[in-house]
Amino acid sequence: MALTELLSELDRLSAEATAAFEAAADGEVLEAARIDFLGAKSGRLKQVQKGLGKVDKADKPAAGKRFNEVKKQLEAARQSAAERLAGGGPSGEALEFDPTVPGIRPRLGHLHPITQTIEELTDIMGRLGFTVVEGPEVEDQWHNFEALNIPAAHPARDPLDNFYLATAKKMAGKEHGGWLLRSQTSTVQIRVMEKTGPPVRVISLGRVYRPDTADATHYPMFHQIEGLLVDRHVTMADLKSVLRLFASSFFEDDVHIRFRPSFFPFTEPSVEVDMSWHGGWIEMGGAGMVDPNVLEAVGYDPEEVTGFAFGLGIERVCARRHQIADIREFFKNDVRFLSQF
Ligand code: DAH
Repeated sequence: MALTELLSELDRLSAEATAAFEAAADGEVLEAARIDFLGAKSGRLKQVQKGLGKVDKADKPAAGKRFNEVKKQLEAARQSAAERLAGGGPSGEALEFDPTVPGIRPRLGHLHPITQTIEELTDIMGRLGFTVVEGPEVEDQWHNFEALNIPAAHPARDPLDNFYLATAKKMAGKEHGGWLLRSQTSTVQIRVMEKTGPPVRVISLGRVYRPDTADATHYPMFHQIEGLLVDRHVTMADLKSVLRLFASSFFEDDVHIRFRPSFFPFTEPSVEVDMSWHGGWIEMGGAGMVDPNVLEAVGYDPEEVTGFAFGLGIERVCARRHQIADIREFFKNDVRFLSQF
């Protein structure tokens, strides 16, 4: 057999087999093509191989080399056709979609425990007739201090205890004396009473900021719930019943609350509110009867109306509920912690 004849036979075979493998639409067709071209006994490549022995001795090396090339190339073409049919092939267009394969279920997250607590507090206080109001986190000194009966020289206004947003120099001459990140939600009391007359029955829940060093019970940003009720004939007994109802609704076990005499510039008299924990007491926040100076600052008549106010730390309430020893856990964003609630 002449070498040229053998080589053109190999070329034809190579072209036909490659086309057949590429065109195969499923595994069965591909397998039939494999047997046809590459079958070990009577495949067409095998037939050509038989012809190899018949070429002239001098042409054998060239014929054998070309034969091996074609054999390798066809093996590769068959292999890539098989991968394409399995869905992993590079061609893409023949990727198969199997609608019966179950989907991958995404892991479902949930609300942060602080957000959950905010929603629950809103719900409980809503049943007691309190509606939710919001105030800005960037405040002026009138709402954060002045109107709350905290005068300019008061230590609570110290730059070391607040996040002022401008230097004292820049603040000079500005309306309300410049801005700060609010250090308490009591600001919202003023904003509400400035806008509406009595009676008022609101809560406000949100972030407050203080340059505290973080430890188990402190964090430079935390959340408070502020409550304000102003009406005729409001007394300290109303304050205590509202906080008691709140405590017994929010905590599943039997929680006691206790008032301790205290001082806040915006309430008179003032108390600290403690809740029982592990045979002792933990402070939840402050409360009291709205100071007449505050009522006057917003244009209310302290001879006409009285009111109570309270402010509780939401991290503390939430930690008490779930027996969490360190409030820093809330802000680490560690799902191993967060997924427990
Ligand atoms: N604003 C106070 C604080 O951040 C808490 C507080 C005390 C709020 C007494 C009140 C109140 O409304 O009456 O420490």
